[in-house]
Amino acid sequence: MEKIQLHNQAPAAPLPIVVAGALVEGKENYLTIGAYGIMSIQPPVVYISSMKSHYTNAGIKKTGYFSINVPSAHRVKETDYCGLVSGRDTDKSAIFTSFYGEEKHAPMIRECPVNALCKLVKTVKLPNNDVFIGDVIEYYVDKSCIAKDIPDPKKTAPLVLYGRSYRNLGRVAGTAFAAGKALMKKE
Ligand SMILES: Cc1cc2nc3c(=O)[nH]c(=O)nc-3n(C[C@H](O)[C@H](O)[C@H](O)COP(=O)(O)O)c2cc1C
Repeated sequence: MEKIQLHNQAPAAPLPIVVAGALVEGKENYLTIGAYGIMSIQPPVVYISSMKSHYTNAGIKKTGYFSINVPSAHRVKETDYCGLVSGRDTDKSAIFTSFYGEEKHAPMIRECPVNALCKLVKTVKLPNNDVFIGDVIEYYVDKSCIAKDIPDPKKTAPLVLYGRSYRNLGRVAGTAFAAGKALMKKE
């Protein structure tokens, strides 16, 4: 298949959209993040990459905690808003209903069905971004979204970003750790 070399940029792939939260100057602040990922499943370690200019960064550095909140598709307006305006100029604390875990470390979002409280363990400094790496120390899921002990994507309805479009998850394309077995050589 013929390939075309494009101008260097991050390769197009769907980004999971999360809303990260932190206490900044004692107030809840939320920002939208596409550069989110899991670094280790067990024990659970995640990262967010946040531009150094963002207001939230100071709060994460000061408190040592941040939250990850996975919004549902019907919260696309609030999610996008948190990525359009800065807490430096606009109070975003009432966009969502905040809740806290065992201690008041970082705010989590009641309207998002999946939430994690993360303890900052390392900050990687890139030229324009702080990459915050955190241990997941508390994990919450709406009871109504759990099926067979795991979050049901039909109910949590997460968003992915591709280019400028927020999208829902598509149809199931295969079963992980099983689809590839068709290519395993028979011993
Ligand atoms: C869909 C979307 C994805 C975004 N992803 C990121 C990201 O991964 N990293 C980042 O630094 N900013 C990202 N932003 C921008 C920030 O969310 C935005 O600048 C925000 O207003 C910063 O808020 P704060 O200044 O209150 O911290 C994204 C915005 C949108 C709308």
